[in-house]
Amino acid sequence: MRNIVFLSGAGISAESGISTFRDAGGLWDTYNVMDVCSAEAFRRNRQFVLAFYNKRRRELAGKAPNAAHRMVAELQREFPGRVLNITQNIDDLFEKAGCQGTVHLHGELTKARCETCGHIWSIGYADLVGTELCPRCGAARVRHHVVMFNEQAPEYTRLYEALDGLSADRGMLVVIGTSGLVLPVEEFARYAPYRVLNNLEPQEAIDDRVFSVHMYEKAGDAAPKIAELAHHFLSAGRGGLGGRRADIVF
Ligand code: APR
Repeated sequence: MRNIVFLSGAGISAESGISTFRDAGGLWDTYNVMDVCSAEAFRRNRQFVLAFYNKRRRELAGKAPNAAHRMVAELQREFPGRVLNITQNIDDLFEKAGCQGTVHLHGELTKARCETCGHIWSIGYADLVGTELCPRCGAARVRHHVVMFNEQAPEYTRLYEALDGLSADRGMLVVIGTSGLVLPVEEFARYAPYRVLNNLEPQEAIDDRVFSVHMYEKAGDAAPKIAELAHHFLSAGRGGLGGRRADIVF
C-alpha cells in the first residue's frame, strides 16, 4: 500500500512565528549554538541552558499551527495509517494542528525527562528551574526533553525504519523546511521513488536534482500543491503519481 513520509525542519514553523536556526536572523545568529544546545554546555552551565529552553517554551505558548501543519493533519485523517509525520522540530504545532503520532527526532519542548530513570512527561509551557523532582522515581535530575548536540537521538531509528519502508512500498518522501545540514535529506531522498522538496530557497547542502519535484516558496503557500500531489499519489491505485509527470516543478 502506498504511503508517504513527511520530514520537516524549522522552516515549516517559520510562518507561525517560530525562528529558524540558520536563516538570516535565525536562532544561531542570536546564540552560540554550543553554549545553549550541547551536552558540554549543559554540564558546564545547567541553569543557563534550562533558561534558554524556558524562554523558547514560554514563547511557544502563543504560537499557532499554519497551513502546512494543517495540511499534514488533513492527509492523515483522509488516509489513516498511510501518512507518517517525522520532524526535527521541538515545537507542538503539529499536535495543535491535529497530527497523530508525530516522531520528534530532537525531542519536544513541552516535555521534561528524568536523567535518572528516563521517565518523560508533559509540562506544557512551564519553566524548569532545576529543583523539580521526577514524578516516577523522585530524583532531582529533571531536564528539558530535547536532544542537544553530542547527545543520543534514539528516535532516529524510527526515521531509518520509515525510509526502509518507503523503498519497499515505493512510497513518497516529502521534505519541508530544512537546510539539510543536520539531516542528510539528499541521501534520504534516494530511499523513495517519489521525492518532493519545499524550502524557501535552494540550500547548499541539498542537491535538489535528486528530487522529483521542488518548490521554493513558503510552506504555507506550497501546502495546497503538496496536498494535491499527495492526495493524487495516495488515491492512485496503480501507485506513482497517477500518470502525472513526476518532474513537475511548481
Ligand atoms: N517555508 C518553507 N521553508 C522555509 C521557510 C518557510 N516559510 N522559512 C525558512 N525555510 C527553510 C529555509 O530555506 C531552510 O532550508 O527552512 C530551512 C531552515 O533551515 P535551518 O534553520 O537549518 O533549520 P533545520 O534544517 O530545521 O535545522 C536542523 O539543526 O540546530 C539544529 O536541532 C536543530 O533541528 C534543528 C537542526
